[in-house]
Amino acid sequence: MRTQVAIIGAGPAGLLLSHLLAQGGVDSVVLETRSEEYVAARIRAGILEHSSVELLESAGLGARLRAEGDEHRGIYLQWPGERHHLDFVNLTGRSVWVYGQTEVQKDLIAARRAAGQEIHYEVSDVELHDLEASPYVTYTDSNGRSARIDALAVAGCDGSFGVSRKAVPAAETFERVYPYSWFGILADVAPSTDELIYAWHPDGFALHSMRSATVSRLYLQVPNGTDPQFWSDDQIWDALATRLGHGQNGWKLTPGPITDKSVLPMRSYVQTPMRHGNLFLAGDAAHIVPPTGAKGLNLAIADVALLSRALVARFAGKDDRLADAYSETAQRRVWRCTHFSWWMTTMLHTSGDPFDAQLQLSQLRWVASSEAGATGLAENYAGLPIFL
Ligand code: FAD
Ligand code: DHB
Repeated sequence: MRTQVAIIGAGPAGLLLSHLLAQGGVDSVVLETRSEEYVAARIRAGILEHSSVELLESAGLGARLRAEGDEHRGIYLQWPGERHHLDFVNLTGRSVWVYGQTEVQKDLIAARRAAGQEIHYEVSDVELHDLEASPYVTYTDSNGRSARIDALAVAGCDGSFGVSRKAVPAAETFERVYPYSWFGILADVAPSTDELIYAWHPDGFALHSMRSATVSRLYLQVPNGTDPQFWSDDQIWDALATRLGHGQNGWKLTPGPITDKSVLPMRSYVQTPMRHGNLFLAGDAAHIVPPTGAKGLNLAIADVALLSRALVARFAGKDDRLADAYSETAQRRVWRCTHFSWWMTTMLHTSGDPFDAQLQLSQLRWVASSEAGATGLAENYAGLPIFL
């Protein structure tokens, strides 16, 4: 079969790209190794930046987000004995939205299905060929038959374990592995807070997030290699209560039934360039950030906003300038978010070193008490405009 853009991966990057390309008159075919049900159910990120919300809305994907998502003015930053609210709207005029990645994914699947988008799920053996001249992709379909797609361009949206990033020869890579992981739980209980709480504690970082008025999402810093089965539900709630300050100034953490437990290792990774011939990388295929600060999904959205505009200009307008600038343009935001995620991570996670702990507390006090410090965090968290 033949298409203009072969998209590898039906995560948020791949599906949003197919949606934006279609709106610009460029057709695509999407290949995905997993099933549609699996992709729609994966529990991952939860926070959308201001610009991500604007982009989804302008692409006609904002109805359920506006109806069911929850707009937050800012976050709480805390350490033992102190909790400070940072009001992003007052500081920068920009807010963030709580709306799970699972919901974004479901909205994208529904929109692409309504538009008749060709998506092949449960494929295997995906291989990319002849990327510098006449690209094509071979794979085995869900019935075990060999298949081939000829395309003008290939979009590598297949995350960090996909094939696309390995198809860029002589790529330069940058990596930082952190000595801790996040233990995440989902619980059927109303959040104990109106906005997210990021907590520094001598026992380790904790985060109180949420998915809805009845579902809470919480995270604990744990050592790498932690097996979630070794933590009982009571131990998890006790650790969260201690680190989040249950009992301080009358605040209470309400526990509830835990419906999901997982451990997420943390690393920063950037690969450059994000282009090789007619292959363009977007999202986790090109970069990974540690989750602190919630940038992963937002970066994927920003990449495909740039990439769709570049590919529409290239194929519908015969203008290569945006495609030629894509990697460099995208990398400016990638490195800003890589720095911000590293900064939030290293400011909030304990290393066991008392000197580090004093520096972290000093930094937290400065961010919470100085308008300049608070504005810096707010500007990065609520996010920069996509088209600068
Ligand atoms: P993905 O969502 O990974 O999508 C890539 C798709 O490609 C997948 O569907 C995959 O099955 C498919 N694929 C892989 N290989 C192939 C192949 N060879 N051929 C075809 N398809 C292929 N970010 C946050 O901001 N906050 C969080 O709390 C958070 N939690 C996370 C938890 C986990 C377990 C993970 C893995 C990530 C988390 N992230 C989080 C990051 C965020 O979810 C990602 O940044 C986001 O999903 C990136 O979207 P993407 O479309 O680029 O990649
Ligand atoms: C969530 C994840 C994050 O990484 C973060 O900084 C805030 C919230 C979440 O899953 O809700």
